[in-house]
Amino acid sequence: MTVNPHIEALPAYNAGLHVSRFEADYGQPPLAKLDSNETLFGTSPLAIEAGQSAVLRASLYPDGSATDLSSALAAHCDVDVDTIVFGNGSEELIYALYGAVLAPGDHVLTVVPGFGLHTLAAKCLQIPVRTVSYKGDWQLPISELTEKLTQKPKILAISSPSNPMGVALSIDELQDLISKIPPETLLLLDEAYFEYNPIATLAALKISGLNWVSLRTFSKAYGLAGARLGYGLCSNSEIRDGIRSITPPFNANSIAQAMAHSALSDKTHLENTIRQTSSARESLSDALREMKFEPAPSKSNAVFFETSENSRAVAEALRDVGILVKPWMEEGFERFLRVSVGRPQENDAFLSAIRKLGLKPGSFSTR
Ligand SMILES: Cc1ncc(COP(=O)(O)O)c(C=O)c1O
Repeated sequence: MTVNPHIEALPAYNAGLHVSRFEADYGQPPLAKLDSNETLFGTSPLAIEAGQSAVLRASLYPDGSATDLSSALAAHCDVDVDTIVFGNGSEELIYALYGAVLAPGDHVLTVVPGFGLHTLAAKCLQIPVRTVSYKGDWQLPISELTEKLTQKPKILAISSPSNPMGVALSIDELQDLISKIPPETLLLLDEAYFEYNPIATLAALKISGLNWVSLRTFSKAYGLAGARLGYGLCSNSEIRDGIRSITPPFNANSIAQAMAHSALSDKTHLENTIRQTSSARESLSDALREMKFEPAPSKSNAVFFETSENSRAVAEALRDVGILVKPWMEEGFERFLRVSVGRPQENDAFLSAIRKLGLKPGSFSTR
């Protein structure tokens, strides 16, 4: 036995299926890949061009400080350059932050349903995770959180807009939450879907007096999930340096840096993606409501709703007709599907497939 027993016992991450795996199994591409919250509105052509040029220098190590991208992001987000940290996707930064901050005796507080890595990264370190569950109104369970915050978790991890529901904190709700957080607790505000709901969260964080990290990524609205580039905006440079001590020196590869820098400058592409995604999300949610499902009020590029059947069985049946969606596995939410918002053609293919399956709505909203 060489692997630590607590590592062996970790549940596998519930990842989506890569297109190539689907093609290998079914001999054709899927009709609709809606299982990983990628965008189906493509990558900025400027970013693709920048990536193609960067490939020509692939024999060189990247700029370990990502100087050009750091300056562009510092200006874009109006933060000090020495408070930004990069990751091979923002998921790497979750692990690095946990590694930098958590010690035996600490615990993490998070919400259910929530992004799996907020929990998994703590379990890797044998740090206990306490949770608070959403109810059918999909409002942040603030009184339960307030109560658990009195136990002084070392990290409160929460995503907004959230994965899987897409529900977003308003600035008032964020400020209310901040007012309940003790000084010993670091707020990890995971904003992977920030661009879909760009509100002044940073302004609220900056005046909070707390230790905080806002995690953002080029994987979602910017359409660079395969390039792997996420970043953290930290309340101060000490936290940034702590995270940086854990991440490997060249974790932000040169092709991703070049693509991200160009994607950031291509405002037209981003605006188009956001506009089309929001419109497709509302149409998809309306169509689900007409079928009596009750999708959570999403501000991201996903919809989350319950059917009367086990989600894994539903996702398997959908996969057999070329539709990939994410079956939710968390306890209490095993009948929920998370469906990424596609273009109208993918959303229609999904809707017609669930009509054919004759799925009925679940009953979570009444609980
Ligand atoms: C809430 C949340 N955080 C972080 C990530 C990780 O994104 P990436 O590592 O691609 O930046 C995801 C991806 O699905 C997410 O939903």
